[in-house]
Amino acid sequence: MTARRPLIAGNWKMNGLRSDGLALAAEVAKRLKAQGAASFDMLVCPPSTLIAEVGKTVSGSGVAVGGQDCHANVSGAHTGDISAAMLADAGCSYVIVGHSERRTDHGESDAVVKAKAAAALKAGLIAVICIGETEAQRDAGKTLEVNKTQIAGSVPDGATAANMVIAYEPVWAIGTGRTPTNAEVQEVHAFIRNELVAKVGPAEAAGVRVLYGGSMKPGNAKELLALPDVDGGLIGGASLKADDFWAIAQCCP
Ligand code: PGA
Repeated sequence: MTARRPLIAGNWKMNGLRSDGLALAAEVAKRLKAQGAASFDMLVCPPSTLIAEVGKTVSGSGVAVGGQDCHANVSGAHTGDISAAMLADAGCSYVIVGHSERRTDHGESDAVVKAKAAAALKAGLIAVICIGETEAQRDAGKTLEVNKTQIAGSVPDGATAANMVIAYEPVWAIGTGRTPTNAEVQEVHAFIRNELVAKVGPAEAAGVRVLYGGSMKPGNAKELLALPDVDGGLIGGASLKADDFWAIAQCCP
């Protein structure tokens, strides 16, 4: 099996003013630096207002910085938006695209997510493409079908194991304290990897990191991160506390 280095990613969402955001970044950076050779990659995705300063704060620690969204265009008349090139220019190496909160709050379709992911790759960023079913879809037995459609529609041409990460985030598990069973998580992750074969071929699909997201915390991280097709986590609430975020990272096999 292709070795996949786990990625522990913090999605701060719309949280963090300079004081607490920079303190959190500094604490995470300090711990990673102190650990030395970690067995995992670590990423924080602060709000755009803090990206540059968080970048400076974590510089030299090994902690990577990412955006939470980008526009599909490089520049232009798009008030309030940020391009992937701007994120790269500000020091990002990753960007999250297609988070369910973007899909819901901003009506982003798979086609929009695909265009954003393509822009990310063009800017030299690693795209963290989020997919996942709603509770109603799971209850209707449509989990695999929904994730299949989202993979097919959201993964851009040119995606590889090096420039793309998939985050499987069941919408009903985000911020709720509820998670699927370990067996359900593994089933979807293995399914996603199999679906990726059609998009990027078997060799690349075997190397793509597929993260789990949705109420991951220190108490459940060990069992989730031990699943064969789970290659890290996209962590919201628990990434806002350095102790919890770090404890999750320490659960990487
Ligand atoms: P949560 O969020 O960890 O707070 O459930 C995860 C996410 O939305 O990325």
